[in-house]
Amino acid sequence: MSKEFLATSYRRPGAYHVLLLSTGSVASIKIPIIVQALLADPGNRFEVQVAATNTSLTFFDPQLVGEVSGGRSSVWSDEQEWGHWKNKGDPILHIELRRWADIVLVCPCSANTLAKIANGLCDNVVTSVLRALDPITPTYLFPAMNTFMYTHPLTAKQLKLVIDELGYNVIGPQGSKGLACGDIGKSLMLATGSFRVGAMTEWTDIVQIIKDAEASRPKDVDSATPKPASPFYNDVT
Ligand SMILES: Cc1cc2nc3c(=O)[nH]c(=O)nc-3n(C[C@H](O)[C@H](O)[C@H](O)COP(=O)(O)O)c2cc1C
Repeated sequence: MSKEFLATSYRRPGAYHVLLLSTGSVASIKIPIIVQALLADPGNRFEVQVAATNTSLTFFDPQLVGEVSGGRSSVWSDEQEWGHWKNKGDPILHIELRRWADIVLVCPCSANTLAKIANGLCDNVVTSVLRALDPITPTYLFPAMNTFMYTHPLTAKQLKLVIDELGYNVIGPQGSKGLACGDIGKSLMLATGSFRVGAMTEWTDIVQIIKDAEASRPKDVDSATPKPASPFYNDVT
């Protein structure tokens, strides 16, 4: 069992704390390179942590994240969520992660996790972070799925809901023309009459989005202090 995560001990003054939430798409394989690119920032502006669903962990080796980050970043999963909590008063991983994060990115976002978010489900560490997140935390969602999963009528409805009602920024997938409307560009039509859409936004673009978000954030906030603990959990634990 890996070490415990505490928002207070993991925040670095001046840093922008990036929480990547990784779910069950093959595009999860890009997680280590995104972590590496952010930590290589010449201004040393970022700290990065990853929380992953169990399915996402089948697509990449979490140890790679530790290796490329020199031990600065870890991948957190349900194993730690439930393994670290033993008694009343112990830190709760999904609450510590949401207190730590300045920005949250679901990349990649699977069809399954999108459906869960849109319906308020929170049955793993990833969806629990999102459900417990302070709504002012900038949240980005990068869908990645098979063409027919993406063009399924439920996908457009669920994307519209997370944009309109949760205020999430939805970027991509590659090949999508519109987002919430699920519109598909005609240019995607192949000679066979089929079309392809659904791959996650290029990882380099995701890194740039994070850098832009950092550059435009208010700089007068005390970045060493995590957000307050959840009053709800304080009451019940
Ligand atoms: C090899 C493989 C690749 C998959 N790729 C995707 C994908 O790109 N996008 C997606 O939404 N689901 C994909 N799936 C299905 C999801 O992994 C599955 O729906 C899973 O329950 C998602 O769980 P999660 O959302 O909790 O991570 C894939 C499944 C397999 C076996």
